Amino acid sequence: MTGSPAGPEGAGLKLDIDGVVATVTLSRPERRNAMTPAMWHGLAAIGETLPAGVRAVVVRGDGPSFSAGIDLRLFTPEGVPGSEPVADPLSPGFEQAVAGYQAGFLWLRRPDIVSVAAVRGHAIGAGFQLALACDLRVLADDARLCMKEPALGLVPDLTGTKPLVDIVGLPRAIELCLTARTVTAAEARDLRLAELVVPADDLDDTVADLVSALCATDAATARATKELLTGAPARTLDQQAAAERAAQATLQRKRRAPDGA
Ligand code: ACO
Repeated sequence: MTGSPAGPEGAGLKLDIDGVVATVTLSRPERRNAMTPAMWHGLAAIGETLPAGVRAVVVRGDGPSFSAGIDLRLFTPEGVPGSEPVADPLSPGFEQAVAGYQAGFLWLRRPDIVSVAAVRGHAIGAGFQLALACDLRVLADDARLCMKEPALGLVPDLTGTKPLVDIVGLPRAIELCLTARTVTAAEARDLRLAELVVPADDLDDTVADLVSALCATDAATARATKELLTGAPARTLDQQAAAERAAQATLQRKRRAPDGA
């Protein structure tokens, strides 16, 4: 099925659903998939309307770049034709508006799905943050990651700072953000920003194989396990052990309940 919940195609997004796998494609290749508020709202709408049976979400970009980040024309008086302007930091509704943008990123961590960013070429600024919003990242060997925001006088505010710190650690996150330097695919693998780095021609097949393997486990088990793992960093060992016991009991009792509920 190719669908467009809440009209993501007008926002430069395509959604394809094939069985339990949804593929979200950023589709403004002529602008290197530069992002607008409409695209962030479109991503949020996809998350809100995703069919219940979907188990995996692949996020990819059309053309040579994953995403060149925010559409820089939003910072000009002319803006982007046909797009709402980016929120004005001086307006009282600014933080609420940014929360709306962030909603386009946060759903990718939901326990009922596993999300995979398939990154070829540049993932800059908001584009890097979108890749970080996914559970897993598979990079083509031409991928280039850059947290560009501080170089433009901005903090990264599209949910990327926490996964970045969680993955690379605080010192490296400070270094990457404050220098706004570009990370190659090979370095990204060393920093664990990529689960896999493959030749560009193999990216789609590699992601398809990974997603198929991820969806091979029972859905309820996968969900409970992802929930358990996601909560682990915030718990002590004793708390995590208790969470394991509770999750096991809940999962097995549900499975054995006569109505499966
Ligand atoms: N916003 C608006 N238009 C863009 C953007 C962007 N972020 N990135 C690329 N484009 C446009 C270019 O202006 C160009 O348009 P044109 O054909 O009308 O001249 C077209 O996309 C192709 O871009 P090129 O630069 O020619 O493509 P190339 O492959 O050589 O380079 C790259 C790609 C490295 C991504 C480069 O375009 C670039 O550095 N873009 C800006 C990145 C950036 O600073 N993003 C903001 C990050 S901060 C944040 O996201 C909050």
